[in-house]
Amino acid sequence: MRPVRPNPMNLKIAVLAGDGIGPEISEQGVAVMQAVCQKFGHEVTFTPALCGAAAIDAVGDPFPEETFRICQEADAVLFSAVGDPKFDNDPTAKVRPEQGLLAMRKKLGLFANIRPVETFDCLVHKSPLRQELVSGADFVCIRELTGGMYFGEKKEGADYAYDTNAYSRHEVERILHVAYQYARRRRKHLTVVDKANVLASSRLWRKVAQEIAEQYPDVQTDYMYVDNAAMRMIQEPRFFDVMVTENTFGDILTDEGSCITGSMGLLPSASTGEGTPVFEPIHGSWPQAKGLNIANPLAQILSVAMLFEYFDLAAEGKLVRDAVNASLDANVRTPEIQVEGGEKYGTKEVGSWIVNWIQQA
Ligand code: IPM
Ligand code: MG
Repeated sequence: MRPVRPNPMNLKIAVLAGDGIGPEISEQGVAVMQAVCQKFGHEVTFTPALCGAAAIDAVGDPFPEETFRICQEADAVLFSAVGDPKFDNDPTAKVRPEQGLLAMRKKLGLFANIRPVETFDCLVHKSPLRQELVSGADFVCIRELTGGMYFGEKKEGADYAYDTNAYSRHEVERILHVAYQYARRRRKHLTVVDKANVLASSRLWRKVAQEIAEQYPDVQTDYMYVDNAAMRMIQEPRFFDVMVTENTFGDILTDEGSCITGSMGLLPSASTGEGTPVFEPIHGSWPQAKGLNIANPLAQILSVAMLFEYFDLAAEGKLVRDAVNASLDANVRTPEIQVEGGEKYGTKEVGSWIVNWIQQA
């Protein structure tokens, strides 16, 4: 059972802006959150903290203890992006910005990564798929986030290396329950994605899933091999409602999912579990655009909508979504999604337009 929360709320938000375009989009996410909280009478405080390459440069650690403490003390984390090319091109680097992200997930116990794959009518023409295939696609991928190969035993020798894809029954059960809860709130169709024809870990997933499915007779469950799922996602994306899968498969499938809609720059995500939940855009730190005021802040702003919805603040979430849709309808768009001949707006200008719309709504 989820706790009944007070309303208006007192929200403490840790703000992890990270690298590249992170700080620019973060600023807009914070401004939107502030505007909505003001409207609904919620008290909100924002505490910035270092992560990623910015944290390596400052203190030599991509997820410093101080940041961990700030996250633990917050109700939610508004995260932007980490990553810097100076680390990508150096295979000998001892610490990498991405390790900060993995450390955050593990230390906060964020085992459930919720990645909605949604189409926006005004953007389906950007999809690499034919419009009639992708139009109306709307599903959620639930990715297990703290187990599997990412965190299993590893060996990295000069001529021999391995990663271990280990899962316990407990890890599989808890993520399946999250997936079924989502399916119940949606179209009641869950696809369990695995590779049970080859992998022992996947056979555990499938066995546990078949047991748990009995507890959710109102949800239609089907089982699909990951290779087949990758294919089905481009052949018939509308087939899916909720999909659940292990960490590595989920990493790959969610990139595929986000790009088929043509709206990668617009998709938010949530990571939830035992500790403070984290809300972040699906896209990365786009270092080439840093400081240019061209990055699309919408995925970050929609992460704020997901944050409100997590706390059962549905009206607040809807206000953010309505404001985003209004900005798209008004063609107040960053360059990469602007229609031909339309005026190009900067990161800041899109953010301010949305804040204004919220204040006047
Ligand atoms: C993601 C990213 C991360 C992952 C990287 C940056 C470590 O690709 O969130 O999907 O592999 O989980
Ligand atoms: Mg990924």
